[in-house]
Amino acid sequence: MSQDAIRTPALADYEPTLADDRDEILAGLRASPKRISPKYFYDSRGSALFDRICELPEYYPTRTELAIMREHDTAIADAVGPGACVIEFGSGSSVKIRVLLSTLREVAAYVPVEISRSHLMTAAEGLAQDFPSLEIRPVCADFTQPFELPAIDHAVRRRVAWFPGSTIGNFEPDDALALLDVMRGQVGTDGGLLIGVDLDKDTAVLERAYNDAAGVTAEFNLNLLRRLNRELDADFDLDAFRHRAHYDRAQRRIEMRLYSTRAQQVRVAGEQLSFADGEHIVTEYSHKYTLGGFASLAKRAGFEVRQVWTDAERLFSVQYLAVD
Ligand code: AVI
Repeated sequence: MSQDAIRTPALADYEPTLADDRDEILAGLRASPKRISPKYFYDSRGSALFDRICELPEYYPTRTELAIMREHDTAIADAVGPGACVIEFGSGSSVKIRVLLSTLREVAAYVPVEISRSHLMTAAEGLAQDFPSLEIRPVCADFTQPFELPAIDHAVRRRVAWFPGSTIGNFEPDDALALLDVMRGQVGTDGGLLIGVDLDKDTAVLERAYNDAAGVTAEFNLNLLRRLNRELDADFDLDAFRHRAHYDRAQRRIEMRLYSTRAQQVRVAGEQLSFADGEHIVTEYSHKYTLGGFASLAKRAGFEVRQVWTDAERLFSVQYLAVD
């Protein structure tokens, strides 16, 4: 194919910078315990590290979700129906969408929404080559904030949000509710939501998935500090922080932390912050659900769970929700 023939989908660009969120980040670092939102993981290095996490033997969610999608492709296509405009929240490298696009019938358009512009465009261009007749309308935005849906040329029978990977688990219950509410608003009254939801399970399995032997998750976690150094004029010493994830069974969530290995001062955006020896920053929660627990959260957001597909070990679920 000649260079001219490569289709570059038109981009709606609302990519935020860390400097835009300076006050929010500093407020998190002044709090006790200190916090940084996981949404800042995904600069281009962070996104690439996340792709590597998805390939790790300990990280079961990606391969399990893909296996569920492949096994139940016909039922998923029936639930979504033909002529859907698929809006993917946090599309990343858009690997799973290839499986979904091959599954669904007569997709009207695909709208990937992703905070990392480089990742979004690389994925959209690759997809445009593999699915030449597909209408692709990428939106670079923080999907937790309202964004405008691009106009779609093809006739749309139904808007369906696609939220794989159990990214919903990275939101605390109130924020998860608010996000589901945004999705319900985006898809409208006839719309649906196809979502991957990780299930509660044995602590050892969960902790292994977030403390992998090769140290990729540690790199991913520490990359947050590297990003603050570069984009927010910080001077974190990456060798003076250590990654650890543990499962809080009462809250049903993995908590990812960065521990300071000594008492130290760190400068961030002109502000001096103190860390005690052993003090930690919470960088991510990853909530795990029971099927009943997720159904009641969905109900509170105005969705009804119509279908649930799981693997034989019930590690993970893919669910289709309709607006109630
Ligand atoms: C994106 N999200 C669903 C991942 C998770 O499992 O919570 C992020 C992740 N963090 C560490 N490993 C993977």
